[in-house]
Amino acid sequence: MSRRAQISPSILSADFARLSDELARIDGAADWAHVDVMDNHFVPNLTLGLPVVEAILKSSSIPVDCHLMIEDPDRWAPAYAEAGAGSVTFHVEAAAAPVRLARALRTEGARAGMALKPATPVEPYADLLPELDMLLLMTVEPGFGGQAFLDVVLPKIRRARQLIGDSGVWLQVDGGVSASTIEQCAEAGADVFVAGSAVYGAGDPSKAIAALRAQAAPLVEATR
Ligand code: DX5
Ligand code: ZN
Repeated sequence: MSRRAQISPSILSADFARLSDELARIDGAADWAHVDVMDNHFVPNLTLGLPVVEAILKSSSIPVDCHLMIEDPDRWAPAYAEAGAGSVTFHVEAAAAPVRLARALRTEGARAGMALKPATPVEPYADLLPELDMLLLMTVEPGFGGQAFLDVVLPKIRRARQLIGDSGVWLQVDGGVSASTIEQCAEAGADVFVAGSAVYGAGDPSKAIAALRAQAAPLVEATR
């Protein structure tokens, strides 16, 4: 199955007071807009929730990639799919019934994503992969943008790529992804790259996206 590199800029590093302008700055360049939902319980930070995601969906045509860093995703995640997010990712550490939840997300018409924190092993979840459209491997401890990439996760990216094979499940990395780390991620087998500070911290976010894509694409295509 052919693979392509996708860039999903995290709006966590954007200006929250001007979200629709900030989305317009990545329109046409980004594959997705990555929206980080944090509840101050699963992670020690509080960002935004369903009403803001609904406003984003109305104000922009960029597909929304929701990353839910929340407790009890079994209860809260399906509403994000129902609202129209193209992809909804929950954390396996927080989910009571990940298979049931993934199926509920697909039933609502979203791609189902499952995220693992840096210290959560991937092997126990190998049998769940057919229930998923995307596996997200966090390359920082979730909670904040602008943290340093944890290269201790690279071997897990490689093992996840082996488990996924050519089944078509996307492999996303999130945290500290930048011009200096994206190639290692792509070589290890990732194909969807979240970047917050590397995109919104740049003078021209669209140019930064194009540059990241140019670095990753040849490596993603070479490892397919
Ligand atoms: C962190 C979030 C990330 C964050 C990435 O918990 O999930 O999406 O915004 O930001 P950077 O790319 O700056 O590490
Ligand atoms: Zn994220």
